[in-house]
Amino acid sequence: MDVTRAAAILDRNWLGSSTVPSRSLYPHQWSWDSAFIALGLRHLSPARARRELRTLFAAQWADGRVPHIVFDPGTPPEAYFPGPGFWRAGRTSGLVQPPVHARAVLAVHEAEPDQEFLAALYPKLVAWHDYLRTRRDAGGRGLVAIVHPWESGMDNSPAWDGPLARVTPSTGFVRRDLAHGDAADRPSDEDYGRYVRLAADYRDSGYRAFGEFVVEDPGFNALLADAELAMAEIADALGLPSSGHREAAARVAKALQETLWDSAAGFFFARDVRTGALTPAYTCAGLLPLVLPDLGVAPALLATATGPRFRLGQVHGVPSHDLTAADFDPARYWRGPSWFNVGWLVRQGLLHHGEHALADRLRDDLLATAEETGFAEYCDPFTGEGHGTRSFSWTAALTVDLLAQPAAVA
Ligand code: SER
Repeated sequence: MDVTRAAAILDRNWLGSSTVPSRSLYPHQWSWDSAFIALGLRHLSPARARRELRTLFAAQWADGRVPHIVFDPGTPPEAYFPGPGFWRAGRTSGLVQPPVHARAVLAVHEAEPDQEFLAALYPKLVAWHDYLRTRRDAGGRGLVAIVHPWESGMDNSPAWDGPLARVTPSTGFVRRDLAHGDAADRPSDEDYGRYVRLAADYRDSGYRAFGEFVVEDPGFNALLADAELAMAEIADALGLPSSGHREAAARVAKALQETLWDSAAGFFFARDVRTGALTPAYTCAGLLPLVLPDLGVAPALLATATGPRFRLGQVHGVPSHDLTAADFDPARYWRGPSWFNVGWLVRQGLLHHGEHALADRLRDDLLATAEETGFAEYCDPFTGEGHGTRSFSWTAALTVDLLAQPAAVA
């Protein structure tokens, strides 16, 4: 496959200073999407990749948070719900998304070194991680808590069912997503009602209070630890001595393994901070600690990844939910389908842990499935059939990045 089709999607989805994840379903800028998009853009136009990230960080809040959506002023407010009027936060939402930005900033710099870009983004990234560390440690365990399923990026993950059950769904709003996507591929109305209620409550607290939904997500925290490792490399490149980032990464990795790892299960589970209990679902978020090179429990986690629950290397991509679970659904958003960003992250993890042949198999599968599905948002792990929207930006961008990466086994 050549890079042309993927590059054309990124061109079509470019708004002039940032990229929409999808022209129809997601017509603004999304936080973690932009980081993945920059990983691909760096091979096509490093300047555009830098612009993408600078645009996102230009919308950073004074408290350091990087908002999960930056609304495009040129797009009609009714094109997306909840739009800017709902959030009452100027041109952004008030939630966050997983902190994959430091990794993206470093990768963009590696593609075309630019000290000025690195020096400009570094303090913003420090403030972003400080916000998470100091304002979000609801459980006091040295882990970040998310306050809304949208913050995980994995909206309707089965891991959120328990904590979400406490939330009374809002009614009386119009979903815009169903105009652009098959209802069977999207979160249910009941879940949407709960998302809206939680977002409104958080907004009404001035975007400060921990409400009904407070969760320590292994995926979010693993990506923060990885981001701190990237920060250490950025600080080195800037000649900043003893930055403390490696120690910060080690602290999060230790807390993850001490508090979210279940050795009998061989898996990382999310913790419901309100009850103190681990949520029982095996979801792809529990595989993301594989991105950490020094993960002591990696052999046991790899055994779970290649076992019957995820069948890594035997199905398409990395299923978002346990293939053996009674409520596994191959089409519905984060309740089963394989997403390309998770596949890309798990492939990095496989490379760190010496699983080169498996990493190559995953790369080949991601590339083939992306092309065959028209760069779908996600796919059925068994059939490879595309689901969700098409011409999805991070699927295209990560295709570009994988094409630029050589096979691990010579
Ligand atoms: N992922 C959400 C959506 O489906 C927003 O963050 O709109």
